[in-house]
Amino acid sequence: MKDIDLKLLKILKENKNEFISGEEMSSTLNVSRTTVWKHIKKLRKQGFLINSVTNKGYSLQEEPDTLIAEEIKIGLDTEEIGSDILIFDSLDSSNNKAKELARKDNYPSGTVIVAEEQTEGKGRLGRSWFSPAETGLFISIILRPQLAPTKAPFLTIVASLAVVDAINKTLSNIKSTDDNDLEIKWPNDILLNKKKISGILSEMSADMDNINYAVVGIGINVNQEIFPEEIKKIATSLKIEYGQEINRKSFLEKILKSFEKFYLLLIAGQDNLLLELWKDNLKIIDKEVIIINNKEKIKGRVINISERGELILEDEKGEIYTFWAGDVSLREEEQ
Ligand code: BTN
Repeated sequence: MKDIDLKLLKILKENKNEFISGEEMSSTLNVSRTTVWKHIKKLRKQGFLINSVTNKGYSLQEEPDTLIAEEIKIGLDTEEIGSDILIFDSLDSSNNKAKELARKDNYPSGTVIVAEEQTEGKGRLGRSWFSPAETGLFISIILRPQLAPTKAPFLTIVASLAVVDAINKTLSNIKSTDDNDLEIKWPNDILLNKKKISGILSEMSADMDNINYAVVGIGINVNQEIFPEEIKKIATSLKIEYGQEINRKSFLEKILKSFEKFYLLLIAGQDNLLLELWKDNLKIIDKEVIIINNKEKIKGRVINISERGELILEDEKGEIYTFWAGDVSLREEEQ
C-alpha cells in the first residue's frame, strides 16, 4: 500500500462508522480534495466499504479481511511487538521461518511472522497443527528478551494471556463476555466451551545464562468451519462457537497489543503478577487429572501451580509430583 493510502486509512479507521469531511482529510494530508477522492476509490477497489454523503464526507463501514503488513502496523501503538511484520502466503511452519530469520538474518525482537497457510504446522510433542489457508491465524513472534533461560516458560504464559485477552475483547463486541467459557488448559492450550481454540509452541536458542532468541508460535482457529476427522471432536473455532465470521486483521492487532502488554510486565520482572493472572484462567486446580509422562500415566489431584509454572499433583497415596510443561500431556478425569 502507498503511504497516502495508509494515512487515509488510518484517519478513516480512527473514525470508523463516523463521517469525516473530504476537506478535513485533504488538509490533514496536505493534498487536494480530488486526490483524497482518487484514493478513496482505490481503497474501495481493495474491498474497503466507504460511504460518502454530500456535506458530511466519508465514513468507513467495513474492512476486507486481507492481512496487509503495513496496514496492521498502523493499527498498532506498540513499542516492540510488530516493529516488523512479514506476511507469507504459505510456509511450512511460521516457527521455522521465524527461527531462520532470527538466526541467519538477525531480525530484531518484536518481529512478527504470519502465514496465511502452513503446510507443516507444528504442535507440541511432535504433533501437527491444522493450518488451512486464510481462515486461521498462524503467528510467530521473534523475541530477544534479557531474561534467564529459566524464565522462558513465562513467554508461553504471556502468549496465552494475550490470546485470552484478545478473544474476550473480540467477543465482547459480539455478546456478553460472561457467556464465554474460555480457559487456559495447562500448559499452553486455550479452550473455548471445552474445545481447543488455540495452541502455543515456544522454541528458543539459549546458552547457560542468556536467551539468544525465542520464537513464540501461536495458532488460533478463527474462521475454520470444518476440521479433520481426528480432531473434529476436540477442536473448535470462534466462528463455530459464535456463528459469525471474525475479522482476522483486527483480531491479530488485538493479540499483538495484548502480547506487548503482558510481555512488558515480564520484562519489568512482574512474574508473580503474570502467574496470578494465568492461574485465574486455569480451571485445573483441585481437579482430578491424568498426566501422561513418557508413556507413564499418573493419576491425581492438582493441588497448585508452582512459581515457575509447574503443575503440582498429589496422587491417591499422598505422594507429591511436580510436572514441567515441556514433556507431559494432561487429561481431565471424567467426573
Ligand atoms: C500445540 O497446541 O501443540 C501448539 C500449536 C502451535 C501452533 C502454532 S501455529 C503458528 C506456529 N507455527 C507452527 O508451526 N506452530 C505454531
